[in-house]
Amino acid sequence: MRTKDRPYVICHMVPSIDGRIVVRDWKLGSALREYEKTAATFGADAWIIGRISMEPYAGKARVPVRKNGAPIARKDFVAERDATSYAIAIDPSGKLRWEKSDIDGEHVVTVLTESVTDDYLAFLQSKGVSYLFGGKSRIDVAVVLRKLRSCFGIKRLLLEGGGKINGHFLAADQIDELSILVAPVADGSVGTPSLFNVAGRRTPVRALKLLSIEKRASDLVWLRYRVRQ
Ligand SMILES: NC(=O)c1ccc[n+]([C@@H]2O[C@H](COP(=O)([O-])OP(=O)(O)OC[C@H]3O[C@@H](n4cnc5c(N)ncnc54)[C@H](OP(=O)(O)O)[C@@H]3O)[C@@H](O)[C@H]2O)c1
Repeated sequence: MRTKDRPYVICHMVPSIDGRIVVRDWKLGSALREYEKTAATFGADAWIIGRISMEPYAGKARVPVRKNGAPIARKDFVAERDATSYAIAIDPSGKLRWEKSDIDGEHVVTVLTESVTDDYLAFLQSKGVSYLFGGKSRIDVAVVLRKLRSCFGIKRLLLEGGGKINGHFLAADQIDELSILVAPVADGSVGTPSLFNVAGRRTPVRALKLLSIEKRASDLVWLRYRVRQ
């Protein structure tokens, strides 16, 4: 796959042995430090997650309703181009209520569809949050990746869940590598998010090539795969 015009994408996740990803009741303790440590080895300049996974980081700011505000063109808004790192969300209908434009110093970029309201765009601009349009009514992942490269110069991107966003990237053939820290947990829950959740009848089965296996602290196993094209 050519990555000249888009970032190299590494899907970095901590699933249970049975592929579930909701860690809340797993009592992982220091194992989550391994997640950060292994993530740091990739030298990525950005990470991207789905709207649901981003909720706890975004906040609960109020989106003001403008009185007689002028219409706002559906044009990408770049508030900061030279950040050392970017925290990116896919939020098609503009539900995230950002309190500020960074997460621990990483500049926030949100990916929208053109169906969002003008009030929401005005809100993002007032907060200094950058936004990109990923499509008219649905997100085209390949378009988003090209824009992340051309607007922000992002070369290596960590795709960090949850299952729906991972599934969209897999189905669109936009994952280059998997970095999977298997947690020493059998979860067994039914209907909770898993590593890849893809809606619809055509499942995007993709073959993988094993790159490495490593035992890590806290009984984690780190598996790395290349996605075969
Ligand atoms: N174990 C781990 O490593 C790990 C890592 C990350 C997250 N998680 C867990 O995963 C769970 C959430 O996973 P999830 O699958 O429910 O949600 P998710 O993937 O975090 O977010 C899904 C939402 O993001 C938006 N979205 C993302 N990609 C899109 C695309 N290509 N096109 C259109 N919309 C797109 C949609 O928002 P709308 O609904 O607004 O349309 C969609 O419903 C949480 O419990 C979280 O803690 C675990």
